[in-house]
Amino acid sequence: METDRPPAEAQPAPPFMEPFRIKSVEPIPFPTRDQRQATLAHAGYNLFRVPARQVTIDLLTDSGTSAMSAAQWSALMSGDESYAGAESFERFESVVRDLTGYDEVLPVHQGRAAERILLGAVLRPGDVSISNTHFDTTRASVEAAGAHAVDLPVDHATPVPFGGDMDLNALATRLRGADGPDARCVVLTITNNAGGGQPVGMTNVEAVRRLCDEHDVLLLLDASRFAENAYLITQRDPDYAHHSPRDIARVVFSMADGCWASLKKDGIGNIGGLIALRDPDLARRCRELLVATEGFPTYGGLAGRDLDVLAQGLIEVTDPRYLRYRAEAAHWFGSQLAQAGLPILRPTGCHAVYVDAAALLPQLEAHELPATSLANEIYLAGAIRVTDLGTLVFGRADPDTGHEEPAPRELVRFALPRRVYTKSHLEYVVQHAGGVAARAQRLPGYRISEQSPTLRHFTAVLKPWG
Ligand code: F0G
Repeated sequence: METDRPPAEAQPAPPFMEPFRIKSVEPIPFPTRDQRQATLAHAGYNLFRVPARQVTIDLLTDSGTSAMSAAQWSALMSGDESYAGAESFERFESVVRDLTGYDEVLPVHQGRAAERILLGAVLRPGDVSISNTHFDTTRASVEAAGAHAVDLPVDHATPVPFGGDMDLNALATRLRGADGPDARCVVLTITNNAGGGQPVGMTNVEAVRRLCDEHDVLLLLDASRFAENAYLITQRDPDYAHHSPRDIARVVFSMADGCWASLKKDGIGNIGGLIALRDPDLARRCRELLVATEGFPTYGGLAGRDLDVLAQGLIEVTDPRYLRYRAEAAHWFGSQLAQAGLPILRPTGCHAVYVDAAALLPQLEAHELPATSLANEIYLAGAIRVTDLGTLVFGRADPDTGHEEPAPRELVRFALPRRVYTKSHLEYVVQHAGGVAARAQRLPGYRISEQSPTLRHFTAVLKPWG
């Protein structure tokens, strides 16, 4: 993967059009400059602590922020709210079985509940979980089980079609080496969110499967963005150009032993998650944990109506026209940001555009939190909220020395909620982000003044340097 400075000449924007029309709208807030400054200071310079009523365009996340379709709103009305064995569960289970091919289906309230339950059932203290990249909540669940999370992403100097792949040589070395006996599971995160939203290719899944078979290790998918991954395979691998995203997704699921997913992403739901497995014994152990924390196994912390909404969302999300719009919107948005002076990661995926804050703000060291600085300035410029994916999120304070281990990259993510914002909203973002890029050399660094030991970025309080 490579970062790109914008080319001097303007690029023609590829056309894209929303394959839907708008039936229901909500107004968006327009806080003044003074309000934005006061809000950010009051929030401890942490965008997670900024109230949504002070945000004009919210690109913090694509998670749980989707607009539902008319079909989903009507599915909601058919929700069966029985405590046990609701019909909504039967509908959800049948859609998930049909999509994944896994018989054991457990609903949960969101992705991290699935991670805690499944990884809690799979991992024992001292075990190792190996991934193309564990998302931050995934890593937290691995560590909560007393296990060790190892990330082995591919490292490419130039852009490649499948930048989310696992480094196969490194995986083979690990599995054949001293860690081999402790390796309990391999996790492929599709798409690789923390690694720039890049897809994992079919060849990589196949090779990872072979290595897992050789070493008798469980292969699990974090399938939170399975449909976007499948669509990008149809676009970037000529062998699959004529297949539907749904068929590709089925093939990918068929190669793993099971999956979990946050359905707040490709479930097009505002809440929800799932675990789906082949092994009935592992599923039984998961159900035992699930009953203790999520609720009865046929609702898993969700209302019956949520299950119906998600079942419908899981059907809509593989529509090739919808996925094409999503990928082209991200591509167009990325090329506009690049023209406006922001070094973006290429090629763009579907759910977000990632900007390299370290390249844009070379005057700031990692411990001065360049990704935080860029994200905060974009908020100040236009009440636009983006995600900091730099040292604040992925850095670690050494427990003994207190010394800050920087994150491998300082990225800022402009996430795209599903079916929510139009091209003119994105043009507004480009205009303000371009203004910030033009004065990037003058942006301040930040330091952390209060933090919690896990997932510190959600609650940390920061201060500008100087
Ligand atoms: N796995 C991946 C790849 C994710 O991106 C997320 C959440 C989770 C698991 C956890 O799911 O939020 O439903 O508990 N990602 C969000 C984001 C928070 O903004 O990217 P959850």
